[in-house]
Amino acid sequence: MINFIFQPARQQDPQKYISGSIFEIYHQHVEQGHLQNDLAQIAVLHQLDTLLIGIDKYVQFNNQSYPKKFFSKSPSTSKSLYIYGDVGRGKSMLMDLFYETCPIQQKRRVHFHAFMLEVHEFVHQWRNQNRSGDMIVTLAKEIRSATLLLCFDEFHVTDIADAMILGRLFSQLFALGVVMVITSNRHPKDLYENGLQRDLFLPFIDLLQNYCLTQDLPAQKDYRLQHLHALQTRYYFPIDSEAEKFIQNSFNELTAFASRTPGKLEVKGREIILSAVHGDVALSSFQELCERPLAALDYLELANEFTTLILTNIPKLSRQKRNEAKRFSTLVDALYEHKVKLICTAEVVPEELYLEGDGAFEFKRTVSRLIEMQSERYLLSKHIAD
Ligand SMILES: Nc1ncnc2c1ncn2[C@@H]1O[C@H](COP(=O)(O)OP(=O)(O)OP(=O)(O)O)[C@@H](O)[C@H]1O
Ligand SMILES: [Mg+2]
Repeated sequence: MINFIFQPARQQDPQKYISGSIFEIYHQHVEQGHLQNDLAQIAVLHQLDTLLIGIDKYVQFNNQSYPKKFFSKSPSTSKSLYIYGDVGRGKSMLMDLFYETCPIQQKRRVHFHAFMLEVHEFVHQWRNQNRSGDMIVTLAKEIRSATLLLCFDEFHVTDIADAMILGRLFSQLFALGVVMVITSNRHPKDLYENGLQRDLFLPFIDLLQNYCLTQDLPAQKDYRLQHLHALQTRYYFPIDSEAEKFIQNSFNELTAFASRTPGKLEVKGREIILSAVHGDVALSSFQELCERPLAALDYLELANEFTTLILTNIPKLSRQKRNEAKRFSTLVDALYEHKVKLICTAEVVPEELYLEGDGAFEFKRTVSRLIEMQSERYLLSKHIAD
């Protein structure tokens, strides 16, 4: 995720958005039993539909040949949309639906944390290369050359350096006509609450409110919690013929039957391959995460990025597997600290995973955390992202 991904401009968009399509897809999911009909979500779909129509008009206009374009009036760029609400209400799900439905190619959906890492990388390279000119203006132009629509999931500000960069960057992006869809747990007015030198951040809040329509999502319930409760267990053992079925059912339950699309996470040049990623749910194996030389930073990044990890095939660990046991402990610590919900299949119960060998005593903390992570209280806790 840290790689610099502002890609060059792509070709023109051939397709057209058919007004109302996003409702149709939502209702198909409802009919198939993947989603429950939720009026608050439908209210947000109305805003997303309007935005899709606006983006489509803008793109169709710009795709016209020059003389035609010259004689017609350019449509103004649409207002961006800022969706906020409590956890598990369906913000990311609606953003995914919107993103998939939007027929343009110049679009990007990115976790806000990953985006900020890219911005910092750009700043770092700019300073290393002693480049002249306005860094933020250049960055904004690079982003706009590849992207008309930016979808930011889990927008939040916790750092004064980020707060300062964001103010200038977003004002440039909006001025260049970039349209954003943002999801957050907070109303813009509550961003960076109690932050250091918050008064310097206030103009940014005004900017957001000027350029974005702010939409609350007071959906009926925390659907994530509901889906976690619906699972027969979250720690499945032993690894028998039903184990894979359990994993598939869990993935279906948590992703509304999404297809298993592989993903990867890049941390300081290292790649972690994930067998499936959908929104904030990742599916991976013990082999991939703990039998390779990964370290705390990798696990922290994973825990930051995803609210739920489905982990397959945790084996009973012998004395010789001390490195794997240590890595697994580090992984569980990262998940626990970030309140990531863990669903897994294992050969044995937590208490029997690693009984002898180096670090077996310390491993007791891992066992205790694994057990606590099954508790109602843990399930109710909110994911913590940096
Ligand atoms: N109407 C619905 N019916 C059933 N499941 C739903 C519905 N809306 C969302 N979900 C499911 O609930 C889970 C949580 O949704 P989502 O991740 O979109 O929440 P969120 O609002 O983004 O939460 P957070 O603030 O924690 O990021 C997902 O598995 C999603 O597919
Ligand atoms: Mg979300």
